Amino acid sequence: MGERTLTEQLRFDGRVAIVTGGGGGLGRSYARLLAARGAHVVVNDIDRKDGGGLTPAGAVAAEIAARGGSAVAHDGSIAEPSAGPAVVGTALEAFGRVDIVVNNAGIVRDRTFGKMSDEEVAEVLDVHLHGTIGLTRAAWGVMRERRYGRVVMTTSVAGLWGNLGQANYSAAKAGLVGLGRTLAIEGARFGIQVNLISPGAATSMTAAMLPEDLHARMSPERVAPMVAYLCHESCPLTGEILFAAAGRYARNLIIETAGYENDEATVEDIAAHLPDILDTTSWTVPAQAVQLPPR
Ligand SMILES: NC(=O)c1ccc[n+]([C@@H]2O[C@H](COP(=O)([O-])OP(=O)(O)OC[C@H]3O[C@@H](n4cnc5c(N)ncnc54)[C@H](O)[C@@H]3O)[C@@H](O)[C@H]2O)c1
Repeated sequence: MGERTLTEQLRFDGRVAIVTGGGGGLGRSYARLLAARGAHVVVNDIDRKDGGGLTPAGAVAAEIAARGGSAVAHDGSIAEPSAGPAVVGTALEAFGRVDIVVNNAGIVRDRTFGKMSDEEVAEVLDVHLHGTIGLTRAAWGVMRERRYGRVVMTTSVAGLWGNLGQANYSAAKAGLVGLGRTLAIEGARFGIQVNLISPGAATSMTAAMLPEDLHARMSPERVAPMVAYLCHESCPLTGEILFAAAGRYARNLIIETAGYENDEATVEDIAAHLPDILDTTSWTVPAQAVQLPPR
């Protein structure tokens, strides 16, 4: 955790990280990378036994331990209201602190909007949005006390740009952008930095939709370095949305165009000046909604 030079490996020795949905896909690769760099990892995933009698989180914790790393499992749905405090409790009991929270657990229930059931909406919002809120809130007080925290939330191209058949998922993923940006503002005073990852990888969630020849290029291991960087103490970013997929790493921005100004604008003025309103020659990225004194 001390000074480092550019040639030194970015490490997490002494840090305690929680990774939800860490029993498979992207979460597993995040948990493995953080553990390989010295973090103690709490791997959360649903309580389901595989053929070998292990839960998904238990299997990844065992895999980490077999490589000389430090990990414990928390088995249970992050969508349960009691899950956030329970996962944080597991981290405190096993390792005495929480420095890093990677909100990654996720599901899809794809259907076109007209046919989507209330249950399909609720299930998706519960895991992504309420799961992330519940865990981050449970960890918030602990991180605030120590004046240190790194939180990553998982958005998606579907939430940022929209995607056919994913109204429930897009709503949850875009909701996380608002949540993350507000928590970045609120966390700044406490040394807590909050960023979003928009990942792309061939996993059990997506592999069936991706051509086979893309699977190797779209490995979760190509997303993990970006997430690990966002979790590192040297990372200066907060409130950012970073894209990582297939070996490409980029920044996503929500911009506001310079626009058209008229204090007495009529409907017809709006129609006439639509090109000025939409023009992207000049734009800004607002740092936050309004500048209010902190409460
Ligand atoms: N794979 C992609 O291209 C892609 C793109 C955009 C966003 N994402 C997001 O990345 C995250 C990881 O997805 P993935 O592709 O690795 O999918 P995945 O299905 O391979 O892994 C998701 C993991 O979350 C676990 N999980 C599901 N519900 C849970 C719950 N209620 N509580 C705890 N764990 C739960 C699953 O058991 C699984 O291990 C998700 O939030 C997903 O929406 C993935």
